[in-house]
Amino acid sequence: MNAKTNNSESIEVLTPDIKNDPAHELALSVLEGLSKKPKNLPSRLFYDDKGSELFKKIMELEEYYPTRCEAEILDQYSGKIAGYLTGEDVNIVELGCGDGTKTIKILNGFLKNQNKITFVPLDISRAAVDFLLGNLKKEYGKIPFSVQGLVAEYFQGLTWLTDNASQRNLVIFLGSNIGNFNRPTALRFLRHLWHSLNPNDLVLIGFDLKKDLDILYDAYNDKDGVTKEFNFNVLDRINQLLGGEFKRENFQHQGLYNIQTGAMESYLISQKDHTVNIEEVGKSFHFEAWEPIHMEYSYKYLKSDIENLAGDTGFEILENFTDKNGYFIDSLWKVIK
Ligand code: TRP
Repeated sequence: MNAKTNNSESIEVLTPDIKNDPAHELALSVLEGLSKKPKNLPSRLFYDDKGSELFKKIMELEEYYPTRCEAEILDQYSGKIAGYLTGEDVNIVELGCGDGTKTIKILNGFLKNQNKITFVPLDISRAAVDFLLGNLKKEYGKIPFSVQGLVAEYFQGLTWLTDNASQRNLVIFLGSNIGNFNRPTALRFLRHLWHSLNPNDLVLIGFDLKKDLDILYDAYNDKDGVTKEFNFNVLDRINQLLGGEFKRENFQHQGLYNIQTGAMESYLISQKDHTVNIEEVGKSFHFEAWEPIHMEYSYKYLKSDIENLAGDTGFEILENFTDKNGYFIDSLWKVIK
């Protein structure tokens, strides 16, 4: 209904362009997380430019198998994946950019298949998008397809996708990104994805499978301490962005497998009784000796978990692609509407 036709005619309604203050939002999340028992920190703090750099190092670690498994899968099957969209114009949207190694394998599958593609890398970190685009230029010289980089939160990016998609979409969500969500949030995320896509659009999602616990443990407790550094970077960021006074030497890092939930869980554990002031939060937080801060979940999947997730959110599994060890699955889904 037009506002002029109802009886609120005389009331002026303002629509100011209100910007939110990112430092304040962050301070609120930190206040919330550190006020919980057990304490936690928002995992989006991992992926600033330095964090993205450290994560690239994690992906190169001998112990961190997911990257190699997925590379093997894509080397073998990217042609087959492209085959599901033979002859079509395709929007390839990558949620969360890596270094491009995996992306290039997929794009090449589509180029061989002679699709006309537009590649849309989407990440919260500008540096991650730029780095990926730089690597694409290195790989191709002149990039043989259109590119539309997007720096945004996933959901804002997905909304952009809804408004702009005219061709068929393939959304790729690789690594074990989905593993950061517990089941309710994974359902929410996938249903949101489903909602923003058109019927018959495809998604390719990486799932890290349940496996030998020693292999899992080593992947999240590497001997070079890169994962530890990656976790400590979150404390550094709070110090820099919010005037925090965290001291690294007061904490130890541990990655642990929770057999009940099926997740690898990362913790920073306070090694002594102490208090940390965070100026922008306006509060000091007390840590008892051996009190943990939970940092991250990485859920591991059974094949049946993948089937249930797809079915419960409106997708049909077209094919599961796995590596020779059976450590990882890239699952290709179709939107059913
Ligand atoms: N979340 C990703 C994963 O589970 C990336 C990651 C690897 C990670 N090691 C980590 C995130 C340690 C937080 C802490 O594989």
